Amino acid sequence: MDGKELSLSLLFCIFSIVNCCIENTFNNTAVTLVGAKDIRTITGCFEPTEDLVKVSYIQIVNESVPILRRGAINGLPNLVDVVLERNSMQDIDPDSFYNLPKLYLIKIKQNNIRVLREGVFNGLNLTELCLTDNNIEIIYPNAFDDMPKLSILFLNENKITRWRSDWFKRSPQVSVLNFEYNLITTVPYRCLQNVKSSHLIGNVRVDTNVQLNNNRIKKIEDGAFEGLEMLGWLFLHKTK
Ligand SMILES: *[C@@H]1O[C@H](CO)[C@@H](O)[C@H](O)[C@H]1NC(C)=O
Ligand SMILES: *[C@@H]1O[C@H](CO)[C@@H](O)[C@H](O)[C@H]1NC(C)=O
Ligand SMILES: *[C@@H]1O[C@H](CO)[C@@H](O)[C@H](O)[C@H]1NC(C)=O
Repeated sequence: MDGKELSLSLLFCIFSIVNCCIENTFNNTAVTLVGAKDIRTITGCFEPTEDLVKVSYIQIVNESVPILRRGAINGLPNLVDVVLERNSMQDIDPDSFYNLPKLYLIKIKQNNIRVLREGVFNGLNLTELCLTDNNIEIIYPNAFDDMPKLSILFLNENKITRWRSDWFKRSPQVSVLNFEYNLITTVPYRCLQNVKSSHLIGNVRVDTNVQLNNNRIKKIEDGAFEGLEMLGWLFLHKTK
């Protein structure tokens, strides 16, 4: 399929009630599920078949899943948590996740992802995203835009060299950012311009917490913290 056909069929999938798995992500992959009886392996995609429609938790650990492909996990109305750990994953295609109204957590830890593309997480109702211990070097500027509920983001133990002030557009709940153990050298002008300094969670005020310990910070640009009334915590020590 060429790109155009692919996006047309994806559009069809998103707006249709028939199930469709455009590209296989899983191949006899061992899986631990909550909400599905007697399913131990998955081939193709996770989609709302009779067997899978009640799934609330997906865990795949120590398997081989080289690339999460379009539609890998889609259309599950009860899915809350996705945990994909140590699967030698190298890439995540845009639209790997869609139509997941209850999704709370995606944890893709200890894999080999190098690039975070646009269109992977945008628009998801996710609260917590953990990408600890990958090889992430490149993050597209819009990778974390339009995530209305994103609150907690773990990107520690990666190879990020650049902090971008334009991250987190229209993602107003961002409040815990852990970027420890990366290779960031500069804190740029208005580094947190799209991040609020505190949030009300229930009735409790919670201060934003940004962790940048163990990076390579050599420069803090003038006005780096402009646009923030007050930052709860910014951890910058142990800079090499
Ligand atoms: C799935 O895995 C089997 C066994 O490793 C392999 O023979 C087969 O080609 C794979 N199928 C796909 C679609 O990748
Ligand atoms: C995955 O592999 C690691 C290292 O080999 C091991 O310590 C861990 O127990 C394994 N976890 C599961 C759920 O199989
Ligand atoms: C996000 O959640 C709301 C309800 O909290 C729901 O109405 C909406 O359809 C969800 N959006 C997506 C993209 O799943």
